[in-house]
Amino acid sequence: MTQDELKTLVGRAALDYVQHGSVVGVGTGSTVDKFIDALGAALAADPQRVAGAVSSSVRSTERLMALGVKVLPAESVTGLAVYVDGADEINRQGHMIKGGGAALTREKIVADLAERFVCIADESKLVQTLGHFPLPVEVVPMATAQVMRRFTALGGSPKLREGVMTDNGNVIVDVSKLNITDPAQMESDVNQWPGVVTVGIFARNKASVCLLGTPAGVKTLTF
Ligand code: 5RP
Repeated sequence: MTQDELKTLVGRAALDYVQHGSVVGVGTGSTVDKFIDALGAALAADPQRVAGAVSSSVRSTERLMALGVKVLPAESVTGLAVYVDGADEINRQGHMIKGGGAALTREKIVADLAERFVCIADESKLVQTLGHFPLPVEVVPMATAQVMRRFTALGGSPKLREGVMTDNGNVIVDVSKLNITDPAQMESDVNQWPGVVTVGIFARNKASVCLLGTPAGVKTLTF
């Protein structure tokens, strides 16, 4: 199976977690694109399948709307049963690194509205310890140099993501060489640094379930 086929598999499987007629939270990325495609197809077959979606990015909003899914502003809902999103890395506790697609801030906002975070990923994303994938951090531009100095002091190797501006008008710093042994602590610490908008560690908003695409089918991890 190709990586693309594994993404299609878990994108479709995530539909089983979406209650009929509900509003669903939708993340961002190539795996989520497969979920959106599955949602669009389900809606075409049954116009009541979902009442709408709360989206975490301009990219996902455009794809949802093109498939006829109504997109609601996050401010218009008081809560969501389920948020479906991908991850750059996930460990066996359900902690994740996210932000490869630069949508981490809105992703964390929508995830925070949801009772359950359904993570969809191919099996290459499952790791023992977070940090092999460079940690994305959304930063207010004038704080970039100072935030990078702080990561260097922690032993990290920060790099500005060239030519990228987030949907919120900020920059992304990607930090490699971090060994994230205590994700919740690092998430809290880095979030305190002035100018950090969001750190791409999702430990406080961790996955409730992960649908992992493997050649043998979908493996379900619950946390
Ligand atoms: C975007 C994200 C994505 O969920 C993450 O990058 C995984 O993307 P993909 O499904 O394309 O591998 O956090 O900000």
